[in-house]
Amino acid sequence: MKPVILDMDPGVDDALAILLALKSPELDVKAITVVSGNIRLDLCVRNVLTILEILGIEDAPIVSAGAERPFRREPVNVPSIHGCDGLGELDRFREADGSKRYPESKREASSRPAADVILDLVDNLAGNITIIATGPLTNIAQAIMKDSKTMRKVDSMVIMGGAFRTPGNITPVAEFNAYADPDALQIVLHSRINPLVIVGLDVTHKVRLYRHYLHEKVRSSGTKITQFVQDCTEFYMDFHKDNEGFDGCYLHDPLAVGVSIWPDLVETQDIHVQVETCGKLTVGMTLADFRPERSPLDKPNASICIGVDPDRFLRLFSERVLI
Ligand code: RIB
Ligand code: CA
Repeated sequence: MKPVILDMDPGVDDALAILLALKSPELDVKAITVVSGNIRLDLCVRNVLTILEILGIEDAPIVSAGAERPFRREPVNVPSIHGCDGLGELDRFREADGSKRYPESKREASSRPAADVILDLVDNLAGNITIIATGPLTNIAQAIMKDSKTMRKVDSMVIMGGAFRTPGNITPVAEFNAYADPDALQIVLHSRINPLVIVGLDVTHKVRLYRHYLHEKVRSSGTKITQFVQDCTEFYMDFHKDNEGFDGCYLHDPLAVGVSIWPDLVETQDIHVQVETCGKLTVGMTLADFRPERSPLDKPNASICIGVDPDRFLRLFSERVLI
């Protein structure tokens, strides 16, 4: 089993990524650290605890709250995409007796801040750990700023973020996680953590969960988990139907987890990547230097994903989660 830390901003697709990670025997999830992103930090933490409750996880990973806001920029939350609670407004769903289908969990998060939990785990496991980050990278950057030497020990890091040969999603040129905290991404890009695999919109926009496919899975399985997936994605799929032109949703964050389990799902290119931190129109834009390497300054600092097998991933995701 591969020890991993999930650093997330749940968020609907983060929630699906947590389900995939916790239902995959290849991964040993040591901690879920939480960062403000899709929605406020306190709601993201509550959402992680709700998901653990729904899964009925006994030996649960540490849950730790991290950054309430980006390094420099104002927080950017997107309740219009993930619902005001960050999980598709789950309070709408009631049992026959009127009780909440998803009551608030009584579980509690750790009192230790995310950056310290991350550094402790990397140090205690002598770097034998992978970090999968699917939100703004504020927690990861805080850990690097605190102890970059320890952070360079990590086996690997997989981040969902960026857009290289494809438009952005939060602006014409920027992907949300990079846009929300570009300064944190810049710190990660300069950290010399290796390998640093970047799962950007170039590949996540090719991985779609269609509503009709999901509803068929719910009908055939009818488990609490598939019901939760249907309920929490309803609002998110409505957003995609109205704004992305298809009746379903992208599986951005689950693909990042998938890449850490099945690396051959994607084709990658080692390349030099930078991020715009100041541009009025281009802040959060991720730039890969596709020109032939010309100087030591252009040495690759990341492996960006340039191709993916969407059908295989959807099959693997369904086998693990939609059962
Ligand atoms: O751009 C998509 C990414 O931003 C996903 O991680 C989504 O959850 C949001 O955090
Ligand atoms: Ca996310």
